[in-house]
Amino acid sequence: MMAALQYSKYGEGAAGLKHVEIPVPTPKKDEILVKIEAAAINPVDWKLQKGMLKVIYSIKFPYIPCTDVSGEVVSVGPGVTGFSQGDKVISWLDLKRGGGFAQYAVAGIKYTAKRPSGVSAVEAAGLPVAGLTAYQSLRDSGGLKYDGSYKGNVLITAASGGVGTYAVQLAKLAGAHVTATCGTRNIDLVRSLGADEVLDYKTPEGAALKSPSGKKYDVVLQCATTMPWSTFQPVLSSKGKVIDLTPTFGVMLTSAFKFLTMSKQKMAIFVMSANAKDLGELAELVNEKKVKSLIDSEFPLDKAEDAWAKSIESHATGKIVVTNKDEAASY
Ligand SMILES: NC(=O)c1ccc[n+]([C@@H]2O[C@H](COP(=O)([O-])OP(=O)(O)OC[C@H]3O[C@@H](n4cnc5c(N)ncnc54)[C@H](OP(=O)(O)O)[C@@H]3O)[C@@H](O)[C@H]2O)c1
Repeated sequence: MMAALQYSKYGEGAAGLKHVEIPVPTPKKDEILVKIEAAAINPVDWKLQKGMLKVIYSIKFPYIPCTDVSGEVVSVGPGVTGFSQGDKVISWLDLKRGGGFAQYAVAGIKYTAKRPSGVSAVEAAGLPVAGLTAYQSLRDSGGLKYDGSYKGNVLITAASGGVGTYAVQLAKLAGAHVTATCGTRNIDLVRSLGADEVLDYKTPEGAALKSPSGKKYDVVLQCATTMPWSTFQPVLSSKGKVIDLTPTFGVMLTSAFKFLTMSKQKMAIFVMSANAKDLGELAELVNEKKVKSLIDSEFPLDKAEDAWAKSIESHATGKIVVTNKDEAASY
């Protein structure tokens, strides 16, 4: 048996999470059983509980939330090669299945990478959704390569959040001139991550996304809540592109309109697609100390509901992580 937290209906927030003792799951074909050392929360986890994603994701109750975990392989299912008992791993647990708020979880090997020895369990847990979103969106939609060759100007909004903290570092690694937005208390931190210019989003200049040096952005990674196109248009370069991570109806409409009118300035919607290769590459960048995971706070599994409530407040600086106390020695 194992300890876990689960909810049985939509919409009850932290109060809806109940501590339970349930059987340890069994890995099937191409799956591994992971003893979880750390699990990181993402906004998508509690948006799912709010019922905001019902149309896309149908989940079965009771549901154990959280998809981003790191831990140790306990056993492997049929057909698994490349992983064996005792391996330290990082996994994305399919959102439909969840499972991270527990002592053990079953993970698909297609979403699992080995955790390099220089990356702690807590750091690793931050990588699957937040890290991969930054890594893939800047590369695949923004055209950046993480080799210092990019010469454009990039704006990262909500740069103090889970995605933003990785995005600032990755854009800098790619060679970009990086402008970032965050609240007053995080300006020094975001600058220390590599941002060349930092805007306080509560000032008029920050709200207008205006670069202090007058730069126009070639790529905007929009991690903050939805803003109208009229905010971006004046600060974009002639072929500038906004990559929006929160596909509201308005964003979809603007994106379609820009496409249909063959506008040179574009708005793209991006959705992360977990895979072992990208996860492994990103973990290696952390191992090489080129990128780091910013940790807002850590909570033990028996206080995971407090971590959940904190994430819902949306004021985290980096990642909120839940740890399994018994595993503390391995961090
Ligand atoms: N499409 C995808 O595949 C995908 C993947 C991951 C995330 N997302 C979405 O991307 C968004 C960001 O995710 P996240 O994990 O980074 O969230 P997060 O960690 O909860 O972000 C919190 C941070 O955002 C800052 N912030 C909030 N509004 C801001 C604004 N208007 N300007 C500047 N900073 C602001 C907050 O600063 P203060 O505390 O100072 O307010 C806080 O530090 C969420 O909507 C999430 O659902 C999408």
